[in-house]
Amino acid sequence: MSELIYLNGEFLPQAHAHVSVMDRGFLFGDGVYEVIPAYAGLPFRLKEHLQRLNASLEAIRMAPPLDDDQWNDILTRLLAQRGDADQQIYLQITRGAYGRRLHAIPEDVTPTIMAFATELAVRDPELVKQGMSVITLDDIRWERCNIKAITLLANILSQQQARDEGAQEAILVRDGLANEGTASNLFIVKEGLIITPPKSQHLLPGITRDLVLELAMDAGLPYAEASVSVEELEQAEEIWITSSTKEVMPVTRLNGRPVDNGHPGPMWEKMDALYGACKARLRLRNAPPDNCYD
Ligand code: PDD
Repeated sequence: MSELIYLNGEFLPQAHAHVSVMDRGFLFGDGVYEVIPAYAGLPFRLKEHLQRLNASLEAIRMAPPLDDDQWNDILTRLLAQRGDADQQIYLQITRGAYGRRLHAIPEDVTPTIMAFATELAVRDPELVKQGMSVITLDDIRWERCNIKAITLLANILSQQQARDEGAQEAILVRDGLANEGTASNLFIVKEGLIITPPKSQHLLPGITRDLVLELAMDAGLPYAEASVSVEELEQAEEIWITSSTKEVMPVTRLNGRPVDNGHPGPMWEKMDALYGACKARLRLRNAPPDNCYD
């Protein structure tokens, strides 16, 4: 069975979900998106994802075309197609189709709204055990990386360069500072302190990043939001990357050299367990009020 896709108010089979070639998402990459994991059919941190979506829309001068209740109805229906399986939702809003190709923002244009759910890409257990390999690369992206824009060519090229060099992710460096990965946020452990770069226009405010900080706080683990230089990255006791689909992944090789002893570290083990417990509470639907259940 092919699952239905939400497109502009309708739920359609994929083969019937069509968008105009004049859509500004297609022509310019003029749009924003979200990736939301769902465990046991329940969206994880939905409120936070929708807040970020609305912040991205505002940053590109678009009004939210749907409110949170409307999104909730759409996502519930999409997720229901697979019952209570673990899934991920992709949703995207572009500025819409306009009659001609125009760089300036047209006044009279209707957004294109699209969302679908797929099976959750489960983390490779072997990679979790071994840890990931990453390389550092100059950040060739623009100055508004806090917007979750669909315009991802620089991320794609950097991710592919990492793959070409036998790594799974690239950590992007600007002015000597390591900010984030091509599709993930960055954490290091330095002298027992968990550190992640502060929010800025040079990185995406990751939902997983925020949750990791909350979990650290709740568990009394020491943490700080502070910039991470390339030297600090190279000397880190541990490196992690986080995203909605990767969760908290240990990094054990940096530019071909082992990170510390080359094995996932003890602080990562603690955080991975806390994250796992958070997901488990959501699955049991019995955790209000806490930060795992929205
Ligand atoms: N990417 N930084 C970048 C550049 C990202 O693309 C992502 C996520 C993150 C992590 O954000 P979050 O914890 O909210 O998933 C950080 C998604 C998963 C993607 O593009 O598929």
